[in-house]
Amino acid sequence: MKYDFDEIVDRRNTESAKWKAVKKLYGRDDVIPMWVADMDFKSPPEVIEALKKRVEHGIFGYPMLDDDYFDPFINWIRDRHGIEIKKEWIVTTYGVVDALKMAILAYSKPGDNVVIQSPVYYPFYNIVNSNGRMILKNSLKFENANYSMDFDDLEKKLSLKRTKLFILCNPHNPVGRIWKREELEKLVRLCNKHNVLLLSDEIHSDLVFSPNKHIPISSISQDIKESSLTFYAPSKTFNLAGLKASFVVIPNEQLRTEYKNMIESLTSDKLNIFGMVAAKVAYERGKDWLDDLLNYLRDNIDHLYDFFNEKLPKIKLQKPEGTYLMWLDFREYGDEQKVKDILVNKAKVGLEEGSIFGEEGKGFFRMNIGCPMSILKEACNNIYNAFKDL
Ligand SMILES: Cc1ncc(COP(=O)(O)O)c(C=O)c1O
Repeated sequence: MKYDFDEIVDRRNTESAKWKAVKKLYGRDDVIPMWVADMDFKSPPEVIEALKKRVEHGIFGYPMLDDDYFDPFINWIRDRHGIEIKKEWIVTTYGVVDALKMAILAYSKPGDNVVIQSPVYYPFYNIVNSNGRMILKNSLKFENANYSMDFDDLEKKLSLKRTKLFILCNPHNPVGRIWKREELEKLVRLCNKHNVLLLSDEIHSDLVFSPNKHIPISSISQDIKESSLTFYAPSKTFNLAGLKASFVVIPNEQLRTEYKNMIESLTSDKLNIFGMVAAKVAYERGKDWLDDLLNYLRDNIDHLYDFFNEKLPKIKLQKPEGTYLMWLDFREYGDEQKVKDILVNKAKVGLEEGSIFGEEGKGFFRMNIGCPMSILKEACNNIYNAFKDL
């Protein structure tokens, strides 16, 4: 491995939310934070070098987005995911959550329905509710330890008159599924049949473990390419979440115009210089780093999987097909709050309780394994010691 992911980098005295909010979230500050989705690894050294160089330049006036900025992203998506994106289809935004909010405002009215597949990334609830739209849950099915989509229920929800939007999470946070072509084809057929616009959040699409393969929604059919928006960012892939540079791809001209008008009226498509520098270099030169990262994450996942299966078989888990998030079923240990209390106060690890992703997640915990293996091992041992006699 060319890159070092074993290095322990102290983040306590930085502005890191993951580390800073520990006391507030867990009531004590000696908890290993394994919650919010950023990693405890330095970004690719190529990115850090480029940022240093930019800082040393010393002038930070207004930046301009031109072809130079978009080409590395376009090339990356072609090489990694096999689809062609035209520069004029791209709108830049200040993070995927903000970009999704803009889509909700642009394509629906207060009181309209937005369908999501719970348990799911919890800000989806907030971006819909806070804008006066209604959440319709198409709960995922959980059978034989496997998550799948409930298409009968989905059709019912999509066919309602006031359903305007569907938010797809692919790869799915927190359950770790990468949706298969047949699943996406069915989904697309239903969205098209009921004239529902599909918002595809593909922020985790580079974090995929072979033989699984991420299938971009726009590759399913020409129809869905024209009736969907896809949301991307380098933030999960290269650990750049604090730099907030994301991309929305909108092939349909009319949808794009409506989206741009909404951005124009409420905010701006301007980015921060450092986000621009980092995103460009990451997509241009980050491939080897990402390949090493994926191998490292896979080792972490294997470790956790083997450890819990062998030592704490009451905790049920699957290896995620993508993302660095493990979805652990603690239900055999009983009440969620009781388990959380043991995790925090005995094991001293900060995971996220499943119910915040929707009531379907109750009793599960999401664990972020994007950290050096030594920290992961410490967390596993702590959990073992706290639960072994229960
Ligand atoms: C599915 C999903 N979408 C969006 C985000 C956040 O994106 P951003 O930080 O660009 O707003 C996350 C972060 O965890 C996520 O998991």
